[in-house]
Amino acid sequence: MSKTYKITLLPGDGIGPEVIAESVKLLDALTERFDFSFEYTEALAGGAAIDAANDPMPQATIDVCKASDAVLLGAMGGPKWDHHTGAMRPEFGLMKIRKELNVFANLRPVSIPKALADSSPLRPEGVAGVDLLTVRELTGGIYFGQPRGNDGKEGFNTMRYSVMEIERVARVAFEWARKRRNKVTSVDKSNVLEVSRLWRDTVKELHKKEFSDVELDHMYIDNATMQMVINPRQFDVILTGNIFGDILSDTSATLGGSLGLLPSASLGEKYGLFEPVHGSAPDIAGQGKANPIAMILSTAMMLNFLGEAKAAAAIRNGFEAALKQPLRTGDLCTKGNTLASTSEMGDLIRNETLKNI
Ligand code: IPM
Ligand code: MN
Repeated sequence: MSKTYKITLLPGDGIGPEVIAESVKLLDALTERFDFSFEYTEALAGGAAIDAANDPMPQATIDVCKASDAVLLGAMGGPKWDHHTGAMRPEFGLMKIRKELNVFANLRPVSIPKALADSSPLRPEGVAGVDLLTVRELTGGIYFGQPRGNDGKEGFNTMRYSVMEIERVARVAFEWARKRRNKVTSVDKSNVLEVSRLWRDTVKELHKKEFSDVELDHMYIDNATMQMVINPRQFDVILTGNIFGDILSDTSATLGGSLGLLPSASLGEKYGLFEPVHGSAPDIAGQGKANPIAMILSTAMMLNFLGEAKAAAAIRNGFEAALKQPLRTGDLCTKGNTLASTSEMGDLIRNETLKNI
């Protein structure tokens, strides 16, 4: 029997609506080849929601997300709302929906197809064959810790993690490692921070009890950032906290030459939220310049989450096939390439995806 998945679309701000449109075209095309269909509900989020409802994450949006099978998110934020503070910032809306859906594990995979090694700011031989997955804790740490504040004379935030929070995200990392190359690198700052000491001890303990078959090592965040540039092939699964994962995953994205390539899946016990890592890119919004790849690969991760592994693999193959052609959006367009608009790139990936089913 044909399944109908309920998908919530949160286009948000900046390039969000343009890239999400490419995902919808792709999903609709897939329904003609597979035995599933989609029912979309669009909801307000981020700056768009501030403008329309004076709230970056209205309760109505949260309710729609919780009533759906998966959520596709474009991007939130932009200079228009930069004067807002605290709970009225678009970014707060993003943090709120992550918290509400309890999606504590944020998966940010990077694998560099041969065709992209030349776009890297690093030497192609250094990045060819990179295949890593950052598992970033997403609903705790310094992003959410209390107390926090800024009284104009002093600003402060608190980084805290409980054993429970560390264990549940570490479990996700170990489980992914078993499906990959069986190695986890846990990244912290335990030479300085108590919270990181607990992080490291907890990861070690869990490893001993439940995952001793997985290779585990530990790295300080400063070193890990350097290693990401010097020798990124050494990584399989990286396990880390919220802020270190934020920084390290952006670094990992540039290995392929553009943040426009990095997809993400945010998962908990129940919900799945899928978003490109690149953000709203207000400088190029509305001009058809955005790279739809991160959004499209996030869509593939969503299909995997829904149990549609074949469709997900078709997208991944379609993406790799598309890159064998010279078409590139501006962020990746170098010598020998032809400049593509967002929708031209989306069309190419969609056609290649359909060809590969
Ligand atoms: C990301 C973004 C967000 C984060 C911001 C916009 C809140 O940078 O998804 O990486 O820091 O988590
Ligand atoms: Mn970020």
